[in-house]
Amino acid sequence: MNHFELSGGELACEDVGLSAIAEAVGTPVYVYSTATLERHYTVLRDALVSEGLGDPLIAFAVKSNSNVAVLRTLGRLGAGADTVSEGEIRRALAAGIPAERIVFSGVGKTEAEIAFALRNGVGEINVESEPEMHTASAVAQSMGTRATIAIRVNPDVSAGGHAKISTGKSDNKFGVSFSEAERLYAQASNNAGLKPVGVTCHIGSQITHLAPLEEAFVKMRSLVERLRGEGLAVERLDLGGGLGVPYFNMPTPATPADYAAMIARTMKGLDVQFAFEPGRMISANAGVLLSTVQHIHERPEGRKFVVLDAAMNDLIRPAMYDAYHDIRPVKPREGDPVTYDVVGPICETGDTFTRDRDLPRLEAGDLVAFMSAGAYGAVMSSEYNSRLLVPEVLVNGDQFAVIRPRPTYEDMLDREAMPGWLASDT
Ligand code: LLP
Repeated sequence: MNHFELSGGELACEDVGLSAIAEAVGTPVYVYSTATLERHYTVLRDALVSEGLGDPLIAFAVKSNSNVAVLRTLGRLGAGADTVSEGEIRRALAAGIPAERIVFSGVGKTEAEIAFALRNGVGEINVESEPEMHTASAVAQSMGTRATIAIRVNPDVSAGGHAKISTGKSDNKFGVSFSEAERLYAQASNNAGLKPVGVTCHIGSQITHLAPLEEAFVKMRSLVERLRGEGLAVERLDLGGGLGVPYFNMPTPATPADYAAMIARTMKGLDVQFAFEPGRMISANAGVLLSTVQHIHERPEGRKFVVLDAAMNDLIRPAMYDAYHDIRPVKPREGDPVTYDVVGPICETGDTFTRDRDLPRLEAGDLVAFMSAGAYGAVMSSEYNSRLLVPEVLVNGDQFAVIRPRPTYEDMLDREAMPGWLASDT
């Protein structure tokens, strides 16, 4: 459930009509709902707790939505943060998320990033390969400390979904095999710079069926048991993120309750602290991208293009993954739907949000909302075509606030510098 509903003929976010936000901030703009973020976090947590999975760490995947106000909203409920760069760690810390609730993942952490994580007391470094484990050890020893690590395993299961976001097959770059994990865990336990506390996996994103997750989790459980059988301490099992969300044209994904029940079943009797790294399931349906129709361009042969002020630089998922986002007029007109291609103003054909979509009739000046845009939306935006970075707004009940302002053109130009040999006019 989300809090974007029609109210008095207009799409609202909680108690704020979207046209009021468009008027105050302009478009394009991302709009997030506090109540939806809170609800999604709480539904997942309650499901896990009620299945007897103890006091799990729910480390929100910052890559899905990294705005500090969003992170703080979740942090206040007890969420941790799953991060993949120093920048994301800094965001989580700036949001007030305690360092011990921060997990540091990613296949290519630099020495400087590992040192930053250790200096700041980050709770768990998810080591993805043998060389990375040695780097973590060397950095920790040079700082006179030990790095708390989990070994990321690549369970070699096919998660389905889009190939560009599948991570759990052995030909993907992520994690080590089960046999390597056993060897590395034993090695780490005897290493002065490392404290291995657990194992972790993440097999992909937008996973709608539980079967691949279950297959991976069963294998992870056996790994924990084998490690313990070898006398190694395993305190934590981090099961990653990946649960899909409804994008309206997709098969309805498994619910958090189904997910929690499956985990309780596969992990029955295993005494371990569970950790999770959900991103999309918390943030996707908590946000929309609001845009204004510039005009309708009708070709003589009949194709009708809705040209928006939002483009692929603001929301790249359709261009990059052929992703489907529901598009809703903020004030839908009655009457027969019209078949449109919805496009942005960028100079390439890939700047097409959808083709042949039936929508209520649109006119220049109308506002439309791209639904389910709270995850992998603003975080993947850019200034391509020198378009200003898209702003973000957070709604809370009947209030809203700009949580990332639209930059000015001066801001954009001031970031660049002219080399001395080009500085003079001649
Ligand atoms: N943990 C790790 C280690 C990850 O790599 C990811 C996502 C997550 C957690 C969170 O996964 P989620 O719960 O959000 O599915 N840009 C793509 C999605 C890329 C996901 C990458 N990793 C998209 O727009 O669909």
